[in-house]
Amino acid sequence: MSTNGKRDGFSSTLAALMVALGSAVGLGNIWKFPYMTGTGGGGAFLVIYLFFVFCVAIPIMISEFVIGRRSRLNAVGAFRKLTGNPRTPWSGIGFLGALSSYLIMFFYSCVAGWVYSYTFKAATGAFANITKESAGALFAETIGVGGAEASFFSSTVLAPIFWQVLVLVVVGTIISFGVARGIERAIKVMMPALFALLVICVIRALTLPGAGDGLRFLFHVDFKQVTPAVILAAMGLAFFKLSLGMGTMITYGSYFTDDADLSVSPLKIAIADICISMLAGLAIFPTVFSFGVEPGAGPGLLFITIPLVFSQMPFGQLLLFAFFLLTAFAANGAMLSLVEVPTSWMSEEFNIPRKRAALINCVIIGAVGILAAGSADGSGYFGGISVFGKGFFDLFDYLSSNVAMPIGGFCIAIFAGYLMKRGELFDELSNHGTLHNEGRAAFIRILMRYVTPVLVVVILLNALGIIKL
Ligand code: TRP
Repeated sequence: MSTNGKRDGFSSTLAALMVALGSAVGLGNIWKFPYMTGTGGGGAFLVIYLFFVFCVAIPIMISEFVIGRRSRLNAVGAFRKLTGNPRTPWSGIGFLGALSSYLIMFFYSCVAGWVYSYTFKAATGAFANITKESAGALFAETIGVGGAEASFFSSTVLAPIFWQVLVLVVVGTIISFGVARGIERAIKVMMPALFALLVICVIRALTLPGAGDGLRFLFHVDFKQVTPAVILAAMGLAFFKLSLGMGTMITYGSYFTDDADLSVSPLKIAIADICISMLAGLAIFPTVFSFGVEPGAGPGLLFITIPLVFSQMPFGQLLLFAFFLLTAFAANGAMLSLVEVPTSWMSEEFNIPRKRAALINCVIIGAVGILAAGSADGSGYFGGISVFGKGFFDLFDYLSSNVAMPIGGFCIAIFAGYLMKRGELFDELSNHGTLHNEGRAAFIRILMRYVTPVLVVVILLNALGIIKL
């Protein structure tokens, strides 16, 4: 199994790819991508998102893999080893990564809680005879709408918190028992199953009356409604989707085998990830238009439309249960990679046993994450509190995807493009000269040096209103 005797590596390049995909695929594909495409206006958002995947995300993923495999260490140790300086400021990227991972987990565990709750509801037949109205009401109940008027100990407020805590108990338990093997095995089974179920969903959605309007929404490109905030959101989604800018992929890169081609693996991961997001989009938007749901409905989009599309199928209730169960698995896989960041950082940096570090992190995430559970809707228990003009749920989401991860990704691209010597980068990209891919490596280096970091800075400044595109 091991690639260099010392570390617990993955058995093959395919296994390493699957595990990276296990981190990438999650609620980002099934929940976030469709709803952001909906609020971002459809086709134009999709085009901008794809642009960022190819020009920003892929070069950063290559950078992370190169840094990880070259050093065979985690995000903090990697920079120390590659710079030869134990106190290098670059290791701050690892610290920033731990921070981003908390920010993401605060709201991600909350949304995963909704998925758990829907899995349970589907098992108990709550979605039989569902209509657009009752689907909306069920979602409102799930996220604690109206909690501001209720007492903290009412079920309105406590139900979403209960599910969120359950998520953290499950994730914490898995993570305290170590990483590679278990994840590798589970993901190989679950991902194809989720894929198959999504395909069934898409077929049904596309044959609903009025499905064509959904396709038109998804593929009609109209840049008129695109604002700087929408552009930043699309870039943030590219980071979030592919788990970039915080060292996760550095750690996974460190497990890649010596013969893996790091110049193409990220492309494969990104394309597979886009396929899954597109399947979710193709299942959701025709349903949105067929049932007259608002495409810009926001975070509830998945939870309202998916029960509706399954209501139109034979064995719909059973398949709906399977759908949410597999989505819960995908979310768990992604969360393992998220909690792993602060857990390995904490246990290696402060010499805390792994189990204890996992426990401490889950408690921190739960304690702060409750704020997200109570603020997913403005009328929630904590919905009235705003920081920088945003509720906690939106704030955690915004700060991670639109601030911390782009900054982390910028630094990572700069490190691979400028700090690493040309020869060193080429050596790693060509597997010590065995691949003969000089041309491709040169192209990638140009992206790392002149395209990716420039784009990130320009988009951030544009969103801040400092420059105008
Ligand atoms: N990519 C995952 C998703 O789309 C979320 C995620 C998992 C993530 N690990 C990450 C995001 C690390 C950023 C960094 O659901």
